Amino acid sequence: MAVYLVTGAAGFIGANYVQFLLAREPQVQVVAVDYIGFAGNMANLDPVLERITFENADIADLESMEAIYRRCRPDFVVNFAAESHNDRAILGPSSFMRSNAVGAQVMAECSRLVPVKSHVHVSTIEVYGELAAGERWFTERSALNAKTPYSAAKAAGDQMVRAYMQTYPQLNIRMTHCANNFGPYQLPEKLIPLAVTNVLRGRKIPVYGDGLQSRDWLHVIDHCEAVHRVLHAELGPTPAAAATDPGLLPIFDISARHEVTNLEIARLVVTELGLDPAEWIEHVPDRPNHDRRYVINPEKLETELGWRPSRRFEPEMAETVRWYRDNRDWWEAILADKGELGVDWSQLPAGTS
Ligand SMILES: NC(=O)c1ccc[n+]([C@@H]2O[C@H](COP(=O)([O-])OP(=O)(O)OC[C@H]3O[C@@H](n4cnc5c(N)ncnc54)[C@H](O)[C@@H]3O)[C@@H](O)[C@H]2O)c1
Repeated sequence: MAVYLVTGAAGFIGANYVQFLLAREPQVQVVAVDYIGFAGNMANLDPVLERITFENADIADLESMEAIYRRCRPDFVVNFAAESHNDRAILGPSSFMRSNAVGAQVMAECSRLVPVKSHVHVSTIEVYGELAAGERWFTERSALNAKTPYSAAKAAGDQMVRAYMQTYPQLNIRMTHCANNFGPYQLPEKLIPLAVTNVLRGRKIPVYGDGLQSRDWLHVIDHCEAVHRVLHAELGPTPAAAATDPGLLPIFDISARHEVTNLEIARLVVTELGLDPAEWIEHVPDRPNHDRRYVINPEKLETELGWRPSRRFEPEMAETVRWYRDNRDWWEAILADKGELGVDWSQLPAGTS
């Protein structure tokens, strides 16, 4: 029976992946790792808790992670664990560097010390930075140009993963960069669940600046399917030319090519809740150093691995809004535990401008 080790499993995408995996391959063993940081929530794993082994561990701690590898002997590893919120990264970057950079290296090192069949490091579109005017999209060949503390920490992890891919090609380490995800179980500090939970509590949706920051949106289960496909792909040896051409490395960009502004997302949420956007949206001061626009091209994943997104944006967005409306206990428990999750950038913290 195949053993999967999934890190960040109590977070938004990790929990969706564990549920997706057990629905698709009910016989596999899942070792779910999470240190239950700010975004970690054991309730995200409730539907599958009886069917998994949970390990409370820090992926940046080599000793703990190596012990888990030796005990569980994973065949397949997916590293979703990261500190993930741009706002919180501005307020305190250090934990982001530890999870996103050191953690990425420790996970790759564990897969070197205790070899696995394949290992996917999950990264983000944000490592490429922001598109220049007139630029259509990023690809696997784009330079890493991260500019925020969150994305720079992810980019540092990416560089280490690229170094492992090229130095130890026999390890079968792959990497993905995905567009923005939406779907159930996302902490209500992020745009869509923050917007829904605000309106459901009679509060307006705070839209940063003019709201015309543009993002590339993909349903979380389409992301899970893409990661699973990359994990199981039969990839030939990496050609020597990859040393100067990152497009030849086992790296795959994931997107549905669906670009929407933050303001439009807020409008869709209000409309789905049967209200008038003009009354429920307020523009508030933008966060410092906010990326304006990013979109990513999934052509390599489509042509080499045959992946296509199978969910359409509008109906899935409506379904997502309904999920938060219908699972009020889930997010009320989070707010009761953590307090309000929005950040007020009109009071700039020391050191930001
Ligand atoms: N959410 C998106 O739109 C998106 C898009 C592209 C890529 N990604 C990437 O996907 C991954 C998952 O993102 P998410 O949105 O689910 O984030 P999330 O913040 O909801 O979940 C991350 C989980 O990782 C855990 N974690 C963090 N540091 C850890 C550590 N050192 N050890 C163990 N557990 C740790 C947290 O407790 C949390 O449960 C991240 O790597 C992120 O960069 C996210």
